[in-house]
Amino acid sequence: MLTTKQNVLRRFWYAVMALEDLKDGPKPFRLLGEDIVLFLAKDGKPAALKDRCCHRTSKLSKGWINDGQIVCGYHGWTYDRTGKLVHVPQFPVQQEVPNLSTPAYHCEARYGYAWVALDEPLAPILDAEEEHDPSYRRIPQFYEVWNTSAFRLMENSFDNAHFSFVHRGTFGDTAQPTPKRYEIKETDYGFYAASLVDIVNPPAAQRVTGTTDPATTRDMRNQWYFPFSRRLDITYPSGLQHIIINCATPIDDSHIQLMQLLYRNDTESDCPAQALIDWDAAVIEEDRAMLEATDPDAPLDTTKHAEAQMPSDRPGQIMRRRLLEFLHAHGEAEVTRQYV
Ligand SMILES: [Fe+2]
Repeated sequence: MLTTKQNVLRRFWYAVMALEDLKDGPKPFRLLGEDIVLFLAKDGKPAALKDRCCHRTSKLSKGWINDGQIVCGYHGWTYDRTGKLVHVPQFPVQQEVPNLSTPAYHCEARYGYAWVALDEPLAPILDAEEEHDPSYRRIPQFYEVWNTSAFRLMENSFDNAHFSFVHRGTFGDTAQPTPKRYEIKETDYGFYAASLVDIVNPPAAQRVTGTTDPATTRDMRNQWYFPFSRRLDITYPSGLQHIIINCATPIDDSHIQLMQLLYRNDTESDCPAQALIDWDAAVIEEDRAMLEATDPDAPLDTTKHAEAQMPSDRPGQIMRRRLLEFLHAHGEAEVTRQYV
């Protein structure tokens, strides 16, 4: 599937940028191949517009913010959060501002990020109740560009067969390549997949897992939120909870902005945030290296046999089927280079 060629994917929320990064002015982002600009509007909430002035097409992200409105750096034309042109500095005060605008997108603040849907959203942003529970802390872990597609990242997140190989340098056990099975329940928003995984527990992992045992288990409850978000609840036998939320935000067909945040029910003195970032960084770096070595155009229709399959691929197969059915239900055929 070529992500940007499937129009209905514009109707979902994607985590686009940290709110913190908008404090010093407007910032550009490319979402599903579309150039957008983000800024903090008058109400302090994020806004997203097409990154193009309706005067001479210049990028609004090259401009600045004046009283919560975005000023084009070329001629000073000014827009509000709805994209409406509100000021043309070249006109005398008594002259009416022409009725022009640049397209605006759905934009909401959640979990420290601005989330954007290019067209009318079909589903809400996934809910994390830990955000409102003082026994949890939220740690922003990653915000980085990967040279892969959103589907590859999502599928990999539910693939228990890659741990022993890709993660042999961190928690994978090469002596146990037989993957644990997921119990999968399909939901309206995607699916819920549970499994208990054996892991090695080297000294570097011990504050993360909350035990000094040389091996331990991860009780994983992993949820796919259609199309490219995921919530992974990991519980260790120590009672520690490690809850990862990530969004594989599609920049274009072969690049994603990977946003990942973490909730933990421990404290900075139990395990410093930086240690938790460093630990998961080593793990996702292993994933990145492998995913960037795959073809980003992942075929959804498995009946065409463009890729081989094995039983442990079931979560990915369900994702492919659900996405394909969804495209068809919205009158779209899969666009891919894979079936020739
Ligand atoms: Fe992985």
